[in-house]
Amino acid sequence: MPALVRTATQKETIVMMPQTVASHNRDLDLKHLWHANLQHRGLESRPPLEVASGDGCYVVDSEGRRYLDGMAGLFCVNVGYGRREIVDAVAAQMSQLAYYPLTQSHGPAARLAGRLAELLPAGLDRVFFTNSGSEAVETALKMARQCARQLHPGENRYKIIARHRGYHGFTMGALSATGQSARRAAFEPLVPGFLHVPPPDPYRCSFCCDRPACSLVCADEIERVIRMEGPETVAAVIAEPVIGGGGIFPAPEGYLERLRAICDRYGVLLILDEVITGFGRTGKLFGFEHGGIRADILTFAKGLTSAYLPLGATVASEQVFSAFQGDNDRSKFVQVSTFGGHPSSCAAALANLDILMRERLWENAADVGAYLLERLGDIRSRWIAEVRGCGLLIGIELVSDDSKTPFSEARMVNLMREFREAGLLIGRNVESAPGYGNVLILSPPLILSHEQADTIVTTVTRVLEK
Ligand SMILES: Cc1ncc(COP(=O)(O)O)c(C=O)c1O
Repeated sequence: MPALVRTATQKETIVMMPQTVASHNRDLDLKHLWHANLQHRGLESRPPLEVASGDGCYVVDSEGRRYLDGMAGLFCVNVGYGRREIVDAVAAQMSQLAYYPLTQSHGPAARLAGRLAELLPAGLDRVFFTNSGSEAVETALKMARQCARQLHPGENRYKIIARHRGYHGFTMGALSATGQSARRAAFEPLVPGFLHVPPPDPYRCSFCCDRPACSLVCADEIERVIRMEGPETVAAVIAEPVIGGGGIFPAPEGYLERLRAICDRYGVLLILDEVITGFGRTGKLFGFEHGGIRADILTFAKGLTSAYLPLGATVASEQVFSAFQGDNDRSKFVQVSTFGGHPSSCAAALANLDILMRERLWENAADVGAYLLERLGDIRSRWIAEVRGCGLLIGIELVSDDSKTPFSEARMVNLMREFREAGLLIGRNVESAPGYGNVLILSPPLILSHEQADTIVTTVTRVLEK
């Protein structure tokens, strides 16, 4: 079908065939778009995939090729592409009220905050809306610092402890919490007061990988750092229940509980970054359920709307919220975001949560995720060192020899191209630690079927055999 396109240069409407539209878009892209995390030099010879449409677990590129989206976009299209219900809810909301700021109020934000409070454990029920995961984290960090000061007058609690390899966002605060040197180096010095400890990584753990079981020394490192720094200087610990983009490191048994106990012992707030793990990704509705613990502050984005529209949320406990209710104006939380909690995004989130709850998608993530993990674990390949994860959040660590040498950057880049040519969009941890960008990542929509899981296994087997 011909398409109407208004070109920027000609300022007139002309009729183009789809192929022409695709190459026209590509020209404009290469000329004007500045892409995320891409080296632009030489991009003409490896242009980014131009995705034109999506349906269920699949996307179609501008030349009509179909791909199984093993990454759900960027860990986020949890309910899959093409859900009419969300589109209709957003259209209705836009017609009724296009926008209003949350310095006042509107129905969709109030209803969504109420809905989140219902889904979360009692006492975790105060919601601050933002536009993205980075902003949700930024908000959590600011809340934690101010809250710690107001809860402990006379102390100076501002330090935040995070883990190496963890990812928390691109803004300066969230990046300071991020424990990935390759993402930080160009922008240093970052925000002062952030400290990092080793992540749980049973395969390469410097504390206990040669012992039969994990000894949780990596969790105890947090206590050691709190004591060495002085508890009266530490505001919060921030952690993803499963480190995601950094290379898929699930919390070992007992780890989250240990974290909670340490924070309680020293009056330190626990921020759980559920931007990836929230809303079913790990086979439970929320990542913290794996440890049966409660956080003081939670951060959400991605699966909150399944990325149909941008939205982030920071949820605070009653205790945290009450620290902001003083008799003077200075104790309030001074932050405003023009678009945060946009009515259309909240409407998208409400419709998305209806789908998630009606279809109980975390159960499918648990079921198909366990099947996929097992089948990937059965692949006989000398390159696969470890397959790990939970629910539909899975990492495949690749090594080039018996001494755990990580796959080289060049081999990883080649592999990614092979997967794309084979019709599977798969992710990887881009240099979350120097020289360790060697983990393939799978995070497909939570509607993935067993047959689609089989397709992933067949493709991974075939590409690695090559
Ligand atoms: C755990 C975690 N926190 C925060 C973020 C930042 O979210 P956003 O990209 O929406 O800013 C991400 C993004 O991948 C993430 O994985």
